[in-house]
Amino acid sequence: MGKVITLATSKGGAGKSTLARNIAAHWLNVGMRVAVIDADPQGSIIKRHDPNGLLSKLVVIAQPEEIVDSTINELKTDYDYIIVDTGGFRNRTTVKALISTDLAIIPLKPSADDVAGALETHNLIKEINKTPERLSNPIRYKMIITMSQQGTVIARHVRSELEQIGYLVLKAEMYHRVAYPEAAIKGLSPCITDPEGAAARDIAQIISEVDDFIAK
Ligand SMILES: Nc1ncnc2c1ncn2[C@@H]1O[C@H](COP(=O)(O)OP(=O)(O)OP(=O)(O)O)[C@@H](O)[C@H]1O
Ligand SMILES: [Mg+2]
Repeated sequence: MGKVITLATSKGGAGKSTLARNIAAHWLNVGMRVAVIDADPQGSIIKRHDPNGLLSKLVVIAQPEEIVDSTINELKTDYDYIIVDTGGFRNRTTVKALISTDLAIIPLKPSADDVAGALETHNLIKEINKTPERLSNPIRYKMIITMSQQGTVIARHVRSELEQIGYLVLKAEMYHRVAYPEAAIKGLSPCITDPEGAAARDIAQIISEVDDFIAK
């Protein structure tokens, strides 16, 4: 059965769609069967996806409605990974996606607003974990710091504050790199356009940690 990874935070612009597209591209590169569900009504992924382009093997399905859980379940038998990109606000579709997920990834830039959005999403997950669907099998999550400048104090500070309270934060970060928005113009990922480059290496590290966490 495929693993479901949902990117969620109520803060807009934290890097959900970028991370979704890039982890999908990485898993495709290593031979996995990957489907992306674009559950954001803005459709940032589906709008830029070129079914005849370099990511043609990636299956992208737009499903911004509450029936996203059925879409997830339909895809589970045919794909190794189903990646769900959600909107930058709380809605029923995001709740339904989270109920069906194996792992929630909560991206946050090192900024107060993004931390607030991440904590709000963590609270939402805690609420969902009290419902009958997830009471015996609580949603697992990891936060990830995005768009950080390597070696800057602010990212380290945000990380240590979160970790001190006990939040789970991936060690790997999606550093600020222009390669992401450049590749995104054509709906692509540095994992495809520059597989030996720094951004592709970052994504590989993120995936390695995610894979370890899922396997536990
Ligand atoms: N690591 C990065 N380095 C540089 N730019 C980035 C990085 N990650 C994302 N961006 C850019 O930041 C912007 C916001 O990213 P993205 O669209 O992925 O966020 P989002 O959380 O999906 O936003 P929304 O809530 O609107 O859906 C985009 O222009 C994207 O290209
Ligand atoms: Mg988005």
